Amino acid sequence: MNTEEIRKDYPLIAEGIIYLDNTASTLTPKQVMQAVNEYYLEYRANIHRGVYELSQKASEEYDKARIKTAAHINASPRELIFNRNTTEGINQIALSLELNKGDKILTTSIEHHSNLLPWLNQTKKGVQIEYIHPTSEGLFDPSQFEEKISENTKLVAVTHISNVLGVINPVEEIARICREKNTMLLIDGAQAVPHIQVDVEKIGCDFYAFSGHKMLAPTGIGALYIRKELMDELTPIYGGGGIISDVSLNDYTLTDHPISWEAGTPNISGAIGLGKAVDYLKKIGYDKIQYHEKKLTKQLLEGLIDMKNIRIHGPIDDKNKACIVSYTMENMKSDDMAGILDARERICVRSGTHCAMPLFKNILKTKDSIRASAYIYNTREEIEKMLRVLDDYRV
Ligand SMILES: Cc1ncc(COP(=O)(O)O)c(C=O)c1O
Repeated sequence: MNTEEIRKDYPLIAEGIIYLDNTASTLTPKQVMQAVNEYYLEYRANIHRGVYELSQKASEEYDKARIKTAAHINASPRELIFNRNTTEGINQIALSLELNKGDKILTTSIEHHSNLLPWLNQTKKGVQIEYIHPTSEGLFDPSQFEEKISENTKLVAVTHISNVLGVINPVEEIARICREKNTMLLIDGAQAVPHIQVDVEKIGCDFYAFSGHKMLAPTGIGALYIRKELMDELTPIYGGGGIISDVSLNDYTLTDHPISWEAGTPNISGAIGLGKAVDYLKKIGYDKIQYHEKKLTKQLLEGLIDMKNIRIHGPIDDKNKACIVSYTMENMKSDDMAGILDARERICVRSGTHCAMPLFKNILKTKDSIRASAYIYNTREEIEKMLRVLDDYRV
């Protein structure tokens, strides 16, 4: 993997930005923007409606993007719907399951709010949420899931990779347990698809949600995998144009999946951009991405461990971890430090609770943290620069 060549695809890097907030959103390469521009400049039309050439071309490119995105996680195109983001995907499932009083959802105390609020909303109907808590490092043992799943557990909802701790959860084992116990499994894959090769078939989950903007694609496009048997069982939550085969004044008949889930005009350019981002990541290859990220994770952790005023959250080795490192400084507020990093070296890191407040309150027991997360275009020199600034505030 030639990082120097890769860096040329990102105009913001040439401007001197050190972008280490990749967990929130990644940068977008020129190739993806070109694909989006081509759509607007060369074949701008709505999809699946017109018989004219432009509309046919737009439909073709949108459908191709679905084939590529589905293949990227080893799903069939019929099992993948386009939506806005991970948040929307999880809400779509929470609403379409039609949960009832007495049903239980099992999740963990480290989830992003996007994999918590959709379930909390269900408690108004009498649905109960149960939580599994990790070790102080943020690790789970699959047997915890085995013990907690009961007859009333309708679904287990768990993140593949924590957006605060970077820990990769044992989703294959959790899926096996869910199948044995006849419980559905939803995986929040927002932080996994950008960093590791995801194979939904191999994992054996029922639902898998992820966002384009965290894997080089434009904002406003996401995808949701629904296992084919469940596609046939569930009812899409949105009604509107484009999803029907027949409508009368009293009723309607849905068209085939997955189109039936995409009411209204979708984010056509976003889907085409996501397809291009998939091509781009595939060309690099996940083995190379992981090798690169591991190097940076190790450097980051080793540099921080050395500083006695810094507490690292999550595991302090690079095993089973994406390059997402959160830390709190004893002698400095997280927002203040993030501001200093930006002002001194144009280093972009996130500070706060990273949309995972319960994790901070119950497990980390700290107010907030700084989170540095690297991706394919980050370098050792950039990590070194961040560590040097932190070093000036060492006590
Ligand atoms: C683990 C995890 N889940 C869900 C989300 C929500 O993603 P989005 O805002 O794209 O819906 C994020 C975003 O940071 C995340 O890290």
